[in-house]
Amino acid sequence: METKIYTLDQIDEAAAALKKGQLVAFPTETVYGLGADATNVEAVSHVYEAKGRPSDNPLIVTIADVATLEKFAQPLSDQVKLLIKTFWPGSLTIILPLKKDALSKTVTGGLDTAAFRMPANAATLSLIRTAGVPIVGPSANTSGKPSPTLAEHVYHDLKGKIAGILDDGPTDVGVESTIIDMSTDVPTILRPGAVTEDQLADVLGTVQGNKHKVGANETPKAPGMKYKHYAPDAQVEIVDHPSDFKAAVDWAGQQATKVGLMATDDILAKLDVPANVETYSLGADVAAASHLLFAGLRHFDLETEVATIFTQGFSNDGLGAAYMNRLNKSAGGVHFTNNKSVDK
Ligand code: TXA
Ligand code: MG
Repeated sequence: METKIYTLDQIDEAAAALKKGQLVAFPTETVYGLGADATNVEAVSHVYEAKGRPSDNPLIVTIADVATLEKFAQPLSDQVKLLIKTFWPGSLTIILPLKKDALSKTVTGGLDTAAFRMPANAATLSLIRTAGVPIVGPSANTSGKPSPTLAEHVYHDLKGKIAGILDDGPTDVGVESTIIDMSTDVPTILRPGAVTEDQLADVLGTVQGNKHKVGANETPKAPGMKYKHYAPDAQVEIVDHPSDFKAAVDWAGQQATKVGLMATDDILAKLDVPANVETYSLGADVAAASHLLFAGLRHFDLETEVATIFTQGFSNDGLGAAYMNRLNKSAGGVHFTNNKSVDK
């Protein structure tokens, strides 16, 4: 199958492909998603195949209006209505109890809830309206690889497996949406994202924060959280303190292999980098770093032969919580502190 790149004036063509049951990747403000008609079981099953995604990992339903949500979900509580009013369209995915048999098991993984999201991307909202159906929207990467923040990343992972990609340039936020579970008594954050815990607490009063580690005997509430994620071929090591970069560079200088290093410009400017170290700028701050993290990991995978990627850590609050959540998964929990690698 030839994978077509649709430009923004070819939304009609992309929508027609979706209507026919084909797969079309679409832009959002967080990362690119892999779209299929959420009401077409066969189309949705191809999404799992294309991504190599385990079939028990349910999909987000991407919508362009609240009327569609009301068709599938149980009557919305006042709190949910407030969330929608405050954060949609935007980077918040809301888990809600479904009406009986409203969506197929292929979408929900057999749960009686589903994840709903209205992204802040005009082209995609128009794509969904034109197709006239809600579309599933997992990130448009091969399962386990960093999520795509450029149409080129999608093309690299899924070319030949999907009908097309609606190209709207680089995504803005760079990490996936915040997921909040509103099907439980206490609203619970299942995945941190650009909508922060503080923002949610302002609207909801009480919200249970994201648990970073799921215990060995615990089932994660968002099924996707149990899988290995965002992992490039090289070992990622988190450098939590700017002062530790000096030791990281010294260590790298003694290696026979190439070493990658991702940090903000102020840190890079102060480092004396040996010839075998390749740097990648994370920009000025945590917002820029979130925007660039996945692209940086992919860069080192595709265009270099580094065995280790030292990557800057940030404090675990606000957007930093989302950034650190993804970075921790890419690193498998490995940090570089006090001149050595430690498993935290
Ligand atoms: O920003 C985003 O959310 C992107 C863009 C493309 O919209 N999408 C995305 O989808 O990140 P995905 O499939 O990569 O991540 C969705 C997560 C998975 O971990 C999945 O297990 C969880 O949401 N999920 C889906 N339905 C759920 C449900 N009913 N209950 C709990 N978790 C659910
Ligand atoms: Mg994903």
